[in-house]
Amino acid sequence: MKEKIEQYLREVGQYSETGAEQVEAFRIKYLGKKGLLNDMFEEFKKAAPTDKKELGQMLNTLKNTVQDKINGLKAATGNKGHHLKLDDLTLPVDFTEAGTRHPISIVRNQIVDIFARMGFTVAEGPEIEDDWHNFTALNFPPDHPARDMQDTFFVEHNKIHGDIALRTHTSSVQVRTMENNAPPIRQIFPGRVYRNEAISARAHCMFHQVEGLYIDKDVSFADLKQALLVFAREMFGGETQIRLRPSYFPFTEPSAEMDISCNICGGKGCNICKGSGWVEVLGCGMVDPNVLQNCGIDSKKYSGFAFGIGIERMTMVKYRINDLRLYFENDVRFLQQFEPVY
Ligand code: DAH
Repeated sequence: MKEKIEQYLREVGQYSETGAEQVEAFRIKYLGKKGLLNDMFEEFKKAAPTDKKELGQMLNTLKNTVQDKINGLKAATGNKGHHLKLDDLTLPVDFTEAGTRHPISIVRNQIVDIFARMGFTVAEGPEIEDDWHNFTALNFPPDHPARDMQDTFFVEHNKIHGDIALRTHTSSVQVRTMENNAPPIRQIFPGRVYRNEAISARAHCMFHQVEGLYIDKDVSFADLKQALLVFAREMFGGETQIRLRPSYFPFTEPSAEMDISCNICGGKGCNICKGSGWVEVLGCGMVDPNVLQNCGIDSKKYSGFAFGIGIERMTMVKYRINDLRLYFENDVRFLQQFEPVY
């Protein structure tokens, strides 16, 4: 009996076939009602009392070894769940849920595509920025109240570069681009920006913009208006109207804010447009000559326009989302509603 148990132990140790059917057959062979272990326990009853202690221990070892083996084989079978046996093509496949693209990414890609068709290329800049690129070069004088328009997250004060902060807008990338490239420049700069604001349905401390910059000889406000009209109609449909309202930004002169006709109520007035029929979507203007000079571009020779689009705002209008916080809570019930990624 001792030899038999030892032989079974060797057999169990060597067994390696996975697959649900094979594992079940293995289990029945050893642990089934008429399995080898029950036979052995029957035989054990008849063994000489002096042998019982040793045989009993050996049988228990065999039983545990078989059980461990089965657990191991089952785990290995489970891991290979996606490998269908080729001889049974009728088995249903495992259903794997596709992820979805984030609505902010969808709209950013659409914005980039539309401007790419107008000849704009894409560039990016750092999210941690120095005072020069975020403020000073953009014509914000020191202590000018315009700096208060943007509540800044300061990171540190650096002896060489002054204040280091999380960029409050993508306009900083305009500066980097103009410093490093000669006109003509026709680029857009998508990216994340930060402001020290209390989080609510209408404001967040982190959001996304796409900045646009076009510098060449004889660029006019009419060019800006036409580019933005084309953009709005590509984005929201051919019937979309735009309206430019005079505004103020230190880095543009003249400056404007652009509204689009509310595509949700068709201009009649709803809660997204707050009853006005218009939704504000971006700031824009002609690049201030001071900014061109700060970046080493001759403002007598060149002019240009710039704009900064709020991606969250665009996405809200596009998908009728009424609470900014939804974007960053990562609730799958929200995220699953958007374009799947295969
Ligand atoms: N940087 C501005 C903001 O974050 C948006 C903006 C306005 C960008 C006018 C521009 C512009 O390029 O010309 O509020």
